[in-house]
Amino acid sequence: MTETRRMRCLSGIKPTGQPHWGNYFGMIRPALELAREHEAYYFVADLHALTTVRDAAQLRKDSLGIAASLLASGLDPAKSVLWRQSDVPEVLELTWALSCVTGMGLVERAHAYKDARAKGKDLNLGVVTYPVLMAADILLYDSDLVPVGKDQVQHLEMARDMATYFNVAFMGAPEGGTVEDVTWDGRLLKRPQALVQQASAVVPGLDGQKMSKSYGNTIPMFAGSKELKQRVMAIKTDSTPLEEPKDPTTCNVFALYSLFASPEEREALAEKYRGGNFGYGHAKLALLELAERHFGPARVRYDELMARPDDLEDILADGAARARLVARGVLERVRAACGLSSVAHTRPPVA
Ligand code: ADP
Ligand code: TRP
Repeated sequence: MTETRRMRCLSGIKPTGQPHWGNYFGMIRPALELAREHEAYYFVADLHALTTVRDAAQLRKDSLGIAASLLASGLDPAKSVLWRQSDVPEVLELTWALSCVTGMGLVERAHAYKDARAKGKDLNLGVVTYPVLMAADILLYDSDLVPVGKDQVQHLEMARDMATYFNVAFMGAPEGGTVEDVTWDGRLLKRPQALVQQASAVVPGLDGQKMSKSYGNTIPMFAGSKELKQRVMAIKTDSTPLEEPKDPTTCNVFALYSLFASPEEREALAEKYRGGNFGYGHAKLALLELAERHFGPARVRYDELMARPDDLEDILADGAARARLVARGVLERVRAACGLSSVAHTRPPVA
């Protein structure tokens, strides 16, 4: 019998609006699958949202909305650790320590930073530091696996690089091996792996580009029936007439349908596309039905959770206390390695 090693999985979502199908298939669903067999550490990345959000009430509400979405989708807060990033301020301390071993060249290569510069956007320092804070999120918990969509893979590579820089800076290069091939486990900072679900690495939005809050092309996970119908009907398709056969492989509606469908349902729809006399309107109705079936029960749970913000706050506070215990242990190693004061020396114990 083969035994799978229990890993620590960690991921975060920014509370910058309502979670959508891209977040769900790219990150939430794979993260919840991992949580069944492994240790799960998932958090609401409110500090990251601060690079763009300027409305405190909205940030608070969206933070609870992300927590409620994970819980409504099946995350068990007794088994997994769910918290709000800003409730564990140790992460900012590790961000600083990592900043001090990270060259400007590394952060200047980040896609988000390069895009913002190319578009002539007014950049704040938070945008430059974003990948360092994200590396701190991951390294502060000795994470093994990080389930994310494809757009986050570069950030994961940067986190691995920063762990290596830090380890080498304060422990020296490993004997008898290169920096890359040594196992750092149990030494200082653990190097994590990204986990990208190939089938949902990039979920397309209404216009066919990557579904993203910043492109305004999303379908929210918990949209009400009316909004859901409006959005699905707005998915862009080509102008092939109803009678003619259609190619499922190039159609956004089919790509989205495939995320929800069983292999049999998917093949049955593909047949209808190829057979002709089947319009995109029909395909959209089929998609709508599967989406309702998939998210309907979770939407009820989501509404119930959002009606009890105090209970959500309690769950997040409990998660933060558990996350903080791990964070303090790792920070103690970091402080000792750098010659800083001990965590125990400088902080009151967490209640
Ligand atoms: P957005 O681009 O809408 O702001 P986030 O940056 O908050 O989304 O993403 C949260 C998580 O969801 C990340 O792991 C990200 O990779 C994943 N994700 C977001 N959009 C998509 C998408 N269209 N396809 C696959 N994964 C996605
Ligand atoms: N940057 C991620 C995003 O935009 C969110 C995030 C913050 C994250 N910290 C993380 C994801 C740590 C995984 C691990 O989607």
